[in-house]
Amino acid sequence: APDGLALTPPMGWSSWNKFADKIDDATIRAIADAMVSTGLRDAGYTYVNIDDGWQGVRGADGQIRPNAKFPDMKALADYVHARGLKFGLYSSPGPRTCAGYEGSYGHVRQDAQTFADWGVDYLKYDLCSGEYFYADADTVQRSYYEMGAALRATGRPIVYSLCEYGRFRVGSWGRAVGGHLWRTTGDITDDYATMARIGFEKNGNPSDAGPGEWNDPDMLEIGNGGMSEAAYRSHMTLWAMSAAPLMMGHDVRTTSAAAKRLLEDRAVIAIDQDARGVQGKPVRKQGTSEIWLKPLAGGAYAIAVFNRADAPVTLTLRPADIGLDSFTAMRDVWKGGALDPQVSTFTVPANDVVLLHVRG
Ligand code: DGJ
Repeated sequence: APDGLALTPPMGWSSWNKFADKIDDATIRAIADAMVSTGLRDAGYTYVNIDDGWQGVRGADGQIRPNAKFPDMKALADYVHARGLKFGLYSSPGPRTCAGYEGSYGHVRQDAQTFADWGVDYLKYDLCSGEYFYADADTVQRSYYEMGAALRATGRPIVYSLCEYGRFRVGSWGRAVGGHLWRTTGDITDDYATMARIGFEKNGNPSDAGPGEWNDPDMLEIGNGGMSEAAYRSHMTLWAMSAAPLMMGHDVRTTSAAAKRLLEDRAVIAIDQDARGVQGKPVRKQGTSEIWLKPLAGGAYAIAVFNRADAPVTLTLRPADIGLDSFTAMRDVWKGGALDPQVSTFTVPANDVVLLHVRG
């Protein structure tokens, strides 16, 4: 939506991938503290988002109440804000959310106002509940438009995240209903096959993305333990090359050194957050290898050489791959050193990637 919000892809943390609905006030506070102590906040991860499972029942006045695990949502939002972080919440247009909690059906404007009153900065709006889940494109668009308009009417700047899984070509109408990001797929899981299928094949149409409007291939699994370090490096690189939202999904309180290195790499984050806001895409595929290009502000390029195979691959990158006559400068982004731009043959380990910052 062209309202000045989410001019670069949103970064933060969400409770779902690690905790599902096993969340409570104390855990969210501890996560907020850990976002600060790990340095993740200062690396740019600012949103602390509670996903499904916070909702209780409605009062006689129709107002949604949190469940017993969240005694005071406004106080929790204040706690998060006091740490220099932003606060996100979740709902769904149907009567029930995907995990069976109270949805916003029949209470859209009231809920938007309640969220604004609590100090919510980000709303993820899912799509579950019988007829809504299976509804036609018009019904789905109308539901998302309703909440988008209701959020705007509160006057509070709230980033609006649509979660209809790319069912109805959301990239072509997401911005028109007020969305700042929209999911392009079903749920990610913590394994290379699923992550790679989403990251390489289902990350949305690059021409739908730009400042304030992002394709969302789902949240990160880095730090959850199901993938090799090479696979997690590919995960982070794919999301950065795709200008994807970077929503962490692990237990920040116990971030490993390896996860921290991947999540906090300033040069990689800068590629994701590049001001031009171009979503990168593959320019050459060769067997199980893929060369991706993301043009950056200031005329440089990020180039990623991915190896999707379970064995190492040796591959030569040519300037012509990205339409150039020559490379004049080249840096290895993950390893952090200058490379000879004339020698661009790389051996990429299994499921790994070489990420380059290039000038031509
Ligand atoms: C489905 C979404 O894709 C997940 O990210 C999560 O929000 C769950 N619903 C919550 O029920």
